[in-house]
Amino acid sequence: MRVFLLVLVLTCCGQDGADDGPRQIFPYPGEYDSATYCEYVFDAQYLMYYDNYFVGDPFSPFLYSPQMQCLFFFEAGENEVVEVTFDPDFEIELSDDCKYDYLEIRDGRFGFSPLIGRICGNQSPGKITSSGRYLWMLFETDDELEYSGFYATFRFIPAPTRSTPEPQECFFHLSGSYDGEFTIKMGTDLVRKEDAHAPMDCTWQIDMPEDNKILITFPLFELSSVNDCEENRLIIYDKYSTAKWMMREYCSTNAPAAMAISNRMFIRFIASNRSSYNQVEMMYTAYTDKPCLEEGMIVCGPYMCLNKSLKCNGRQNCWNYPFDEEGCNNDQKGSTKTVNTALAVTMGIILTVTLIVVVVTCRHSCLRTREKAKAMASRRKMLNQQVQILMDGENVEMNSLGERQSSANGKYPGSRTGSIADGVPRTTRLSSSSHEFPMTASQLKDYERIMDSELGFEPRQKRTSLMEPESPWVRANQYNESFRRSSANPLHPGKEVKVQF
Ligand SMILES: *[C@@H]1O[C@H](CO)[C@@H](O)[C@H](O)[C@H]1NC(C)=O
Ligand SMILES: *[C@@H]1O[C@H](CO)[C@@H](O)[C@H](O)[C@H]1NC(C)=O
Repeated sequence: MRVFLLVLVLTCCGQDGADDGPRQIFPYPGEYDSATYCEYVFDAQYLMYYDNYFVGDPFSPFLYSPQMQCLFFFEAGENEVVEVTFDPDFEIELSDDCKYDYLEIRDGRFGFSPLIGRICGNQSPGKITSSGRYLWMLFETDDELEYSGFYATFRFIPAPTRSTPEPQECFFHLSGSYDGEFTIKMGTDLVRKEDAHAPMDCTWQIDMPEDNKILITFPLFELSSVNDCEENRLIIYDKYSTAKWMMREYCSTNAPAAMAISNRMFIRFIASNRSSYNQVEMMYTAYTDKPCLEEGMIVCGPYMCLNKSLKCNGRQNCWNYPFDEEGCNNDQKGSTKTVNTALAVTMGIILTVTLIVVVVTCRHSCLRTREKAKAMASRRKMLNQQVQILMDGENVEMNSLGERQSSANGKYPGSRTGSIADGVPRTTRLSSSSHEFPMTASQLKDYERIMDSELGFEPRQKRTSLMEPESPWVRANQYNESFRRSSANPLHPGKEVKVQF
């Protein structure tokens, strides 16, 4: 046993990994009737850890599970091929075109590799050998009529000597992080080939941690032959690289984002000429569509949560929303400290200047408004006074105020009263209070006109008064009221100025 293990390790890690012992592939111990989805990778590593393979009972009493998808992927070492031997005891539900339950075998790495067979019924396929290092098998069952299934073993055997070297693969496996990006520029960059104009067929396999799904976006999508899918196209597969799991095919001017329902995605790009101009940029992101309650998750949009490690990583992972790159101090880690400082200083200067401008403007306009209001108040008083004087002059007989000489009179220079009230003696008696005068209709009109223009109101006739227009008291109160309002509110509606007295 020790010797065997040693030999195994040596052979696995050496150039020649071929091992003479066959390995059982199905049923698999312990997981036979519970798994509805299973996946086995049989490669050199597998052989390292599972040296004591299980030999099952070919007449197993168990039936295979309904609604099962079981993938078997074989990867032999360099200069090796895969050989699978099926037991004669083979039983899968028989149907036309094997559409219900079937075992599909393909000669290569993918579900779109050349088909070896789609098998059902009770005819064992016997021994199958791959042409290259890879063999792909999918066992799929529907929800009814189960049978005992099959039993098979595999081994890696040295490849027969080739006349032509094995074609170089164009395959990239992306895993181990929650996001990433990759590009197709020219096919010539991806695979070195003798013929620069040879067709290209490249596949990227993205694997994400379990319970995650994949979002893929295309920041750039430019094909050399637009709308010619034969010439160039991009195909997206979800979970398995089979036609049934094909999600999208793009060969036009744009490639909308696509979301896988599984944690695996295949992106395949096919072009008939490797040197033609094709530019495609792709970005993938792992997400979950469960409520973002778990710690370490960030909300990205409806039914989309991202791992917190994607926050501020310089990639806008959230599809249409920049949530994950919002409020980040820096675009890139590391060398942006000086940039940040410069930015902070610039922002500070802008802020200070703005503040000063605001303060100055406000103060200026406040002062002006205040001055204006003050001036207006005194002018109003003066106007009242003048109107009073006019009235006094006209209605000397009617006026019963008598000889009262107001102390308020002293406030107003005589020259001014004299200039307005033409022909009225300088010693005109003035009413002590502007509240105590009756006006004639024409006086009222003048008063209104002057006040209107002073206060910046529209001409009076446009406004309707709710109060009785005949009463000068009502008018006067209205004026006081509107003056108060005009003081509290901007005089000019277009300009918003707060006034404080
Ligand atoms: C492939 O594309 C290159 C560059 O556009 C062109 O020069 C070449 O003729 C093409 N070859 C074929 C076989 O179409
Ligand atoms: C987020 O990612 C880190 C590794 O970057 C991982 O350790 C952690 O478990 C992840 N969190 C969740 C909730 O998946």
